Amino acid sequence: MTPPDYEYLRKFLKDNSGLDLSADKQYLIESRLLPIARKAGLPGITELVLKMKAGSTPIANQVIEAMTTNETFFFRDKVPFDHFRDAIMPEILQARAGRRSIRIWCAAGSTGQEPYSLAMCLKEMSAALAGWRVEILATDLSLEVIEKSKAGLYSQFEVQRGLPIQMLVKYFKQTGEFWQISAEIRAMVQHRQLNLLHDFSQLGVFDVIFCRNVLIYFDQDTKINIFRRLAKSTESDGFLALGAAETVVGLTDVFKPYPERRGLYRPGNFNPASTKTASGVNAPKAAAMAGM
Ligand SMILES: C[S@@+](CC[C@H](N)C(=O)[O-])C[C@H]1O[C@@H](n2cnc3c(N)ncnc32)[C@H](O)[C@@H]1O
Repeated sequence: MTPPDYEYLRKFLKDNSGLDLSADKQYLIESRLLPIARKAGLPGITELVLKMKAGSTPIANQVIEAMTTNETFFFRDKVPFDHFRDAIMPEILQARAGRRSIRIWCAAGSTGQEPYSLAMCLKEMSAALAGWRVEILATDLSLEVIEKSKAGLYSQFEVQRGLPIQMLVKYFKQTGEFWQISAEIRAMVQHRQLNLLHDFSQLGVFDVIFCRNVLIYFDQDTKINIFRRLAKSTESDGFLALGAAETVVGLTDVFKPYPERRGLYRPGNFNPASTKTASGVNAPKAAAMAGM
C-alpha cells in the first residue's frame, strides 16, 4: 500500500467511523481490506482506494464494516453488570417508582451480548419490575452486527464466554450447532443503526447508557464531543457505564465517577436531591415485557 493510499484510508475512517489509526497500522488495513478488494475483483488496495474516490458507496461501507472491531461477550468484565444489579437498579426502582418505566441504551451493542445480558438481568428482577415499562435500545454503526444481534443466534464458543450455565439453560434453546436466546428476551431489545459521530438527540433521554469499548478507538476531541452529547441524552439522575479502558477523567466534567464503582459515571451536575423524570423525545416503542 502506498503512503498516500494509507493516508486517504486513515482520514476516511476517522471522518466516517471515528476510528483513529496511528501512523503504523498498514498491516491492519491490509489484512482487513485485501479480502474486500479480492471479492470485488480488484488487484489491491490502490484499486480499492480508486473505487472509493470514484464514489463507490458499497465499497466504502464494506471498508467501514471491515475496520470495526466487534469483540464482545456475555456479561463482559462482570463488574458493570454487578453495578447494574446492585447500584443502578435499586436506585432506579426507587427514583422511578411513580413513573414505573426505565430507558436503557447500549450505544455500541455489537452482536447483542451486552444488551441481552442487561435484558437477562432485568428478567431476573421480574418481581420488582412487575407492571414497569422497560426499554432497551441497542445501536451500532455496523449493520452486520445489528442483524446478528436481532437473530440472537450464538455459537457454542460464544455462549461459553461469560454466560453462566444457569442462564444458558434458562434463556437459550439449542438449534443445530447454535444457541438462540429466547423470543421473550429478544423482544426486550430494540435495534437501530446509529453512528455515534452523528446527532443522536432524536433518541431522547435515557436512565442508563452503556457505551463500552468503543470510545477507546477514537481520538480525544471525538471522545469529548461524544461525552458532551451523551450527557444531554442522560437523565440528570441517570448513569453512564464505560469500558474498563475508558474514562471521562481528565477529559470532561459533564460526567463524574460514581464513588467506589469503577467504570460507572453520573452526570456532572447530578444532585441526589433532584428528581427530574425521564421524557423520551420521539422515543422508540418500548419492548413488551410479557409477564412483568
Ligand atoms: C469492541 S465492540 C464493543 C461491544 C460492547 N459494547 C462490549 O463492550 O462488549 C465496539 C462496537 O462499536 C461499534 N462502533 C465502532 N464505531 C462506531 C461508531 N462510530 N458509532 C457506533 N458504533 C460504533 C463497532 O461496530 C462494534 O460493534
